[in-house]
Amino acid sequence: MLPPTVEAMRPEDLDEVLAIERASFSMPWSRGAFLYEIEQNRVARCRVMRDEGVIVGYLCVWEIADEIHITNVAVHPAHRRHGIARALLGGVLTEARARELRLIVLEVRPSNREAIGLYESFGFRVTGRRRGYYYDTGEDALVMEARLPADSSVGGNPRGA
Ligand SMILES: CC(C)(COP(=O)(O)OP(=O)(O)OC[C@H]1O[C@@H](n2cnc3c(N)ncnc32)[C@H](O)[C@@H]1OP(=O)(O)O)[C@@H](O)C(=O)NCCC(=O)NCCS
Repeated sequence: MLPPTVEAMRPEDLDEVLAIERASFSMPWSRGAFLYEIEQNRVARCRVMRDEGVIVGYLCVWEIADEIHITNVAVHPAHRRHGIARALLGGVLTEARARELRLIVLEVRPSNREAIGLYESFGFRVTGRRRGYYYDTGEDALVMEARLPADSSVGGNPRGA
């Protein structure tokens, strides 16, 4: 049995990624959107987690100055609640601290209890609301942030760890 791996997302991963994306979101990113992020957008980084060679989840960010914006995270429905998102997000936070980045930001639907629970367990807090951000339902987005002071464990000590 091989341990799960995390690697940069490649164009040849996109069939598997898109299957997860479409099973996860009412407004899924297109193949073109992922391709832009992994091939052209110089501030974007996307990584995939593989278990036994199969992609089970992925996470994309933008890195701008000393901030990281989480733009996408999803886990295959058959592999949820096994700590995959926690491992992916934990990796981002560990790397952010090592690089002395200070702020991690994301948007989430107020109805997405699973994701909000995940983010809160890493110390993210709601700092704002974007009105009507999701055009399919007209839902607002909650803005959540984790600040990473150099001398603190905020965001770096997930619940249960
Ligand atoms: C949100 C999502 C990425 C979580 O992935 P996951 O691998 O199942 O999450 P983990 O197993 O790492 O869980 C980490 C924590 O998240 C929270 N969480 C995850 N699923 C949850 C659920 N169904 N109900 C309540 N809390 C949940 C819990 O705090 C959990 O910690 P715990 O297991 O110690 O209680 C996954 O549900 C998903 O892909 N959803 C669809 C896409 C999505 O909404 N992405 C986020 C957009 S902002």
